Amino acid sequence: MFKEIITLTLCCLFIAVYAAPATTTAEKEEPPHPYNFAYEEKDANFTITRQEEMDEHGTVKGSYSYIDRDGVFRTVNYIADENGFRAAVQSNEPGLTNSAPAAATIQIN
Ligand SMILES: *[C@@H]1O[C@H](CO)[C@@H](O)[C@H](O)[C@H]1NC(C)=O
Repeated sequence: MFKEIITLTLCCLFIAVYAAPATTTAEKEEPPHPYNFAYEEKDANFTITRQEEMDEHGTVKGSYSYIDRDGVFRTVNYIADENGFRAAVQSNEPGLTNSAPAAATIQIN
């Protein structure tokens, strides 16, 4: 019984020591790989656009929007950087009012 406990303890110790360097490696961040893309999809009833870019510092900026054939639209602009993710919504959708729920702003145009 005592021998089994020692064996188990050594086993766990080995796993802990062995796992430690892997954790350190996983925490090492890769340098950002800048990119950008954009697209638009359109038919008789709506237009959808989307674009995003990341710079060499890892800051991501982008937007997506929807506009229907009556001109009702919603556009979301966002940024993600060392201060977190922030989004700003612009819209003319009926029933909306200017507000800032969940650290996001809604602007009626
Ligand atoms: C646009 O909307 C109309 C009315 O709902 C529908 O009949 C038509 O098929 C739609 N057009 C397209 C391209 O989806």
